[in-house]
Amino acid sequence: MIWQQAECYKEIICGDRTGGVLIHSDLRRADLDEFKGKVQCVYLDPPFFTGDEFTFRMRIGEKGWAEGNQVLELPAYSDSRVGGKEAYLRLLREALAIAHELLSETGALFLHLDSRMNAYARLECDKIFGENNFINEIIWAYQSGGRAKKHFSRKHDVILFYAKSRALYFDITRVGVPRKDNRSNHMRRTVDENGRPCRTIKAGGKVYTYYDDEPVFPDDVWADVSHLQQKDPQRTGYDTQKPQALLNRIVRCCTRRGDIVCDLFCGSGTTLVAAAENECRYLGVDQCSHAVSVTRKRLLDTELELRTKTERVEAVLDADVLPGIGYYEITLNTYALGSAPFENIKTQPKGLHVVGLDAVDQWSVGFLRDGVFKAYTSAARRKQTPKLPTTLELPLLRGTVAIMVVDVLGNRSVWVPQQA
Ligand SMILES: C[S@@+](CC[C@H](N)C(=O)[O-])C[C@H]1O[C@@H](n2cnc3c(N)ncnc32)[C@H](O)[C@@H]1O
Repeated sequence: MIWQQAECYKEIICGDRTGGVLIHSDLRRADLDEFKGKVQCVYLDPPFFTGDEFTFRMRIGEKGWAEGNQVLELPAYSDSRVGGKEAYLRLLREALAIAHELLSETGALFLHLDSRMNAYARLECDKIFGENNFINEIIWAYQSGGRAKKHFSRKHDVILFYAKSRALYFDITRVGVPRKDNRSNHMRRTVDENGRPCRTIKAGGKVYTYYDDEPVFPDDVWADVSHLQQKDPQRTGYDTQKPQALLNRIVRCCTRRGDIVCDLFCGSGTTLVAAAENECRYLGVDQCSHAVSVTRKRLLDTELELRTKTERVEAVLDADVLPGIGYYEITLNTYALGSAPFENIKTQPKGLHVVGLDAVDQWSVGFLRDGVFKAYTSAARRKQTPKLPTTLELPLLRGTVAIMVVDVLGNRSVWVPQQA
């Protein structure tokens, strides 16, 4: 069977868990009208005005995933200071204005920055959200990297928390953490009349009792969420990825099941994963194709609608389709990129060897109708499953059988059998 590439502007993945929409676009050009006033939580983690270039480390093939060698370092996004603070603040202002429009009256905004632009951003937020809607300046304190000698080491980020209005929905009881045993002991350790361990303290003639088995609620300094370590299993290879625990706390404190959580700079998709884990729907936007591929992979088990146009890729694909009882069995035999595909990549591992289906990072089988690819079964390389299944089953339904490939360079292409 001969396969050819087809145009596709939208992909729908039939996952089992609550899902949402992922848009591959500059946030200033994304069509978000249908979500106006419907979003409960917006988390924004824009570039921090560092002047750095950020990359995505893509593992290649079974060997790359199993052994950690064969890793390509691909450009992901630029946090350039071209245009200075004014250009930076223009983007921030636009993102904040969009976030404000998207939020419902009970909604919450979390803007994640560091000390570089925090002061400026606070004033922008005051203008767009209103000073009275400022709720918290959260300090996320972490231990990572080296220690400075010329100044105090910078070991915290700032997360500005604003409400859309006074009707804010916020439930701190959803983010309680276990009480630590080693807390300072100016309190008296005792047990109550039922033998339940607690600590008590007398103040102003009143006795306050704190039970050991009751959670404590975080204050505005979060030192209990660690930065992603070098070998952290959560790591996707996408620079500046935030830890899941951080986003889980943010999503949980201000949403209920079924609410929409939005991230307009979604990167590797941490916020969207947190939304899905907490049975919320998600709305993610990012302009980087690697961000979209990584996020897609992390959300393959959700009902994901991915809005992005496929580009024509210089590649060849060969696959077999065998009709079975009630399903097709589709076997991917070949996916090979055109000549010298890695030529322009600056950082290449020594002896990079791309053979067989090594260039495939994810693939899905489904049907293509009017430019929409509906994926029924998908496979992706991961640390736990470095070997890619080469055969996938597809229910016998009406439509043009199609294959979607996401390759190691972040290309997404849809393939259909060539008409005779
Ligand atoms: C700090 S990273 C986000 C990391 C993310 N929180 C995570 O956990 O992976 C910032 C992201 O913003 C994206 N970005 C920058 N400017 C953008 C724009 N104008 N529109 C959409 N995305 C943008 C970059 O591609 C990058 O992925």
